[in-house]
Amino acid sequence: MSNPSVYPVPDTYLENTLLDEEGYLELYNRSIHDNEAFWREQGQRLDWIKPYTQVKDVSYNKEDLHIRWYADGTLNVSANCLDRHLAERGDDTAILWVGDEPGQSREISYRELHAEVSLFANGLKSLGVKRGDVVTIYLPMIPQAAVAMLACARIGAIHSVVFAGFSPEALAGRMDDGGSRVIITANAGRRGGRSVVLKQNVDKAIALCKETSIENVVVVNCTDDETPWQEGRDVDYGKLLAAQDAECPAEEMGAEDPLFILYTSGSTGKPKGVLHTSGGYLTYASLTHQYVFDYRRGEKFWCAADVGWITGHSYVIYAPLANGGTTVMYEGVPNYPDVRRVAQVVDEHQIDILYIAPTAIRALMAEGDKPVEGASLESLRLLGTVGEPINPEAWKWYYRTFGRSQCPIVDTWWQTETGAAMLTPMPGATPLKPGSATRPMFGIQPALVDGEGNILEGATEGNLVILDSWPGQMRTVFGDHQRFIDTYFSTFAGMYFTGDGARRDEDNYYWITGRVDDVLNVSGHRMGTAELESALVAHPSIAEAAVVGFPHDIKGQGIYAYITLNAGEEPNEEMRLAVRNWLRQEIGPIATPDVIQWSPGLPKTRSGKIMRRILRKIAANEFDQLGDISTLADPAVVEQLISNHNALG
Ligand code: WTA
Repeated sequence: MSNPSVYPVPDTYLENTLLDEEGYLELYNRSIHDNEAFWREQGQRLDWIKPYTQVKDVSYNKEDLHIRWYADGTLNVSANCLDRHLAERGDDTAILWVGDEPGQSREISYRELHAEVSLFANGLKSLGVKRGDVVTIYLPMIPQAAVAMLACARIGAIHSVVFAGFSPEALAGRMDDGGSRVIITANAGRRGGRSVVLKQNVDKAIALCKETSIENVVVVNCTDDETPWQEGRDVDYGKLLAAQDAECPAEEMGAEDPLFILYTSGSTGKPKGVLHTSGGYLTYASLTHQYVFDYRRGEKFWCAADVGWITGHSYVIYAPLANGGTTVMYEGVPNYPDVRRVAQVVDEHQIDILYIAPTAIRALMAEGDKPVEGASLESLRLLGTVGEPINPEAWKWYYRTFGRSQCPIVDTWWQTETGAAMLTPMPGATPLKPGSATRPMFGIQPALVDGEGNILEGATEGNLVILDSWPGQMRTVFGDHQRFIDTYFSTFAGMYFTGDGARRDEDNYYWITGRVDDVLNVSGHRMGTAELESALVAHPSIAEAAVVGFPHDIKGQGIYAYITLNAGEEPNEEMRLAVRNWLRQEIGPIATPDVIQWSPGLPKTRSGKIMRRILRKIAANEFDQLGDISTLADPAVVEQLISNHNALG
């Protein structure tokens, strides 16, 4: 291939791969044309208690929307991630935990993990947790996070993991929505050399809960920090384990019984509880992990995502463990003690596969070649990215430095809603183009549609939809099925709408262009503008607020807030800090605004709708692309906004 912007499959992969390009195309075609047969086979990667006879039972019709896979089969997800590996590889490392401080690490074998999960599952039962109950998990990146998730799965409880960086307010909202009565946390976590208190956040969140009342808080003692204790309610994790039986039979669950809820932001309203079920989710996660990463047992697979996000659920916990692999769980951040840490961890532990977010890559890239200084990196054979579009410059830096110009990069596009990778290269099968998530996973039928839902053919750009279901698809919004239908199946009839825009090139490769709705992607974290705005207007000094994203070198998108203060309030530095801290308090540090612009007025149509298009253009310094502003109630507002924007410097 002579095109310099195409990176062919390296020879090492041509010789020894799960699947070459021809193989991919063949299997892909079969997966579409003989869809049910394909998924019938794939379900066999799991151990079933009662085998399924049904495979696919799906309707994307709004009136009768339902998605069911393997519905008459029964299984247990934790047994698939643990028990079935014990006989042949019980002593293999399931989790390689790497601590925040250099030199700290721990290997946990399948046997050990199984033992602790069984104890904790009994512990949860002793606290009255039953099949179908929702349990909230608010933990740092410690092995107990995996134990807690798998223990829930073992007894048929539904976990709801909340990212430990969320504030007490955000945590309380999720606890209320899920209705959980038990929460699992740690006294504190360690990140970047600092202690981050968690139990105190939980105490505050409990006080803020309106719908649910927490009966027990299980606390893992993770650091030396002291923590307030409420006798009778708070339970020490270690003591709880010590009081349990070692045996805990895995509950027989239906394939369609819920496995977890995970909250994610949409364009409107509060975060949605994305619900995934057991059989289909695990089948799909396992399939993608094997093929996308060409994964071989014994290899060390490092997905650097936090378990608080879907990437952590699928590629730190469920897929690698279902496949009997070794998952690396890293407690820290990429730049502590300094920017060489990622490369040092790779060398020290001889990591085979590294899967990180573009934002981390860009942050490291800003340091030149220092992040790989003195590192060998020879153990790496494959790199991956996820969470946001990767700019070709960052791609090439990652390829040259971490990849030594030898490792393919799998740029995986997917969503909380999709369960696992959807558009992605496969290392032995896909020539790469920097910045493109390339081609669909088996069984996935992407399409581009125009604003009316007409399917567009050939090389073109449009709204990204998926035409048919796959087992890893979310099943509903927890507690609000109508919202599920409205959000994903109403924009374009009969299709799943992703909320993303994409371009397809002449080789049928997909290039994600970003969200087409009001969702921001800040450092790979999804945030709804509506959520940010409603938090802002809850501040006593703020009359009105509008939030948009703007291009940010490291974060991909930054948060730009236009704020109108109440009459009499001073738009000074003190107020700016107050507003900034308010968002951090209401949502968490990931919601820290990058720019706050005081705006005496916002651009609105005569019917009062804020024209975000204009706000986005101003934030991006694209004043010549404001488009038609004649429909504004008061076009003069725009001049004012531009001059205030320029005054920010
Ligand atoms: C974006 C993360 C471009 C996209 C797994 C999607 C990406 C949203 C990519 C989902 C990628 C994710 N290239 N954009 N490889 N991966 N996105 O739910 O906008 O946290 O809709 O899931 O991230 O974010 P979520």
